[in-house]
Amino acid sequence: MELRGGYLFFLYLSSVFFIFSVEEQVQRSQFPDDFFFGASTSSYQVEGAYLEDGKGLSNWDFFTQIPGKIADDDNGEVADDHYNRYLEDIELMHSLGTNAYRFSISWARILPDGMLGSVNPRGIIFYNKLIDNLLSKGIEPFVTIHHNDLPQVLEQRDGGWLSPLLREEFVHFASICFESFGDRVKYWVTINEPNMVADFAYLRGLFPPARCSPPFGNCSTGNSDIEPLIGMHNMLIAHAMAVEIYRTFFWPKQNGFIGIVAHAFMYEPLRDEERDRDAVDRALAFNVAWTFDPVVYGDYPAEMRHCHGLELPRFSAKEKQLLRGSIDFIGVNHYSTLYVKDCIHSPCPSGGDRPIMGFLNTTGYRDGVPIGEPTGLADFFVVPRGMEKIN
Ligand SMILES: *[C@@H]1O[C@H](CO)[C@@H](O)[C@H](O)[C@H]1NC(C)=O
Ligand SMILES: *[C@@H]1O[C@H](CO)[C@@H](O)[C@H](O)[C@H]1NC(C)=O
Repeated sequence: MELRGGYLFFLYLSSVFFIFSVEEQVQRSQFPDDFFFGASTSSYQVEGAYLEDGKGLSNWDFFTQIPGKIADDDNGEVADDHYNRYLEDIELMHSLGTNAYRFSISWARILPDGMLGSVNPRGIIFYNKLIDNLLSKGIEPFVTIHHNDLPQVLEQRDGGWLSPLLREEFVHFASICFESFGDRVKYWVTINEPNMVADFAYLRGLFPPARCSPPFGNCSTGNSDIEPLIGMHNMLIAHAMAVEIYRTFFWPKQNGFIGIVAHAFMYEPLRDEERDRDAVDRALAFNVAWTFDPVVYGDYPAEMRHCHGLELPRFSAKEKQLLRGSIDFIGVNHYSTLYVKDCIHSPCPSGGDRPIMGFLNTTGYRDGVPIGEPTGLADFFVVPRGMEKIN
């Protein structure tokens, strides 16, 4: 692992299992001494305790209570009860030999009413205990400030990530995190997978606030062609503003690293043809560079501007400057490789022919043969070469 201007790979437990399941034996000694082996979670997925100790309702608490949104009407009200069982969880990680734990902070636990209310001191106490106990076991905390769960009040009062107000809200939340935990936390992620959130919340409508339009989904309201671009725009600017605050006010004393994590598949042409190779370039631009180009170069990739025209929001000169270089590292969450088919010169039903999809269609199968070993998830295949190439 290389930091400063380099790349940071989060190696998940699942990936470790994949590695050890291949025939060739992989040993820890083959990795650099400062390589982190870690486990990773997000607050809503593990904490439970959804109303304990002053926590407010999150967008996920609200969403999962709507009948039919989640299979079996399940929810995260108890989840893994990590809020109450974190000491056992730390023991388990320690027994596995991990030396890093990536977790996120529940925004609604720290600021139940966003920036209009006060900080919930019992929320701060929980993360202090978690961080202190990790460090006492030699486990480095990698803290994600925002991983898809926000106070429901911000959804209802402001309009969630579709509103520029969320930028100020996020900076306020991030500042409280730096101030409260930054003396011990040296690795910060501002926002986890903004590209995936934009897609699932505003294009497919499968995550809260469940907004979309046909042919991408069946939501009561929304606009799948435009809203993912607006939500992403606000998340990227919020990221850059938080990094600026960190570097100006906290870094001089805390000396940590800050970055962003994107959801990043690798892509290969479905057919061995120029048009599908071009579609692979678009797939990478629309899915991966959508997050990384702004934080490295200060603007969206040219392919997106070309396909979307005026519908792609523009950054002001000041925003570009804030965004450019607003990372000490990038995080790559890599799950799979998919084939890409061009939809400019070939017909594609079901939305592939629209700008928001980059005029392309993805699939895990070529002539019925999967691109790699299938997993329990439809679009996830085990393709080790893709994990090397996405780098
Ligand atoms: C869309 O959702 C409505 C309301 O839940 C339902 O009645 C309708 O059958 C759905 N349409 C499709 C095409 O799934
Ligand atoms: C690709 O096209 C197939 C067949 O029309 C469709 O079922 C699938 O949803 C499309 N994939 C994406 C990612 O749009």
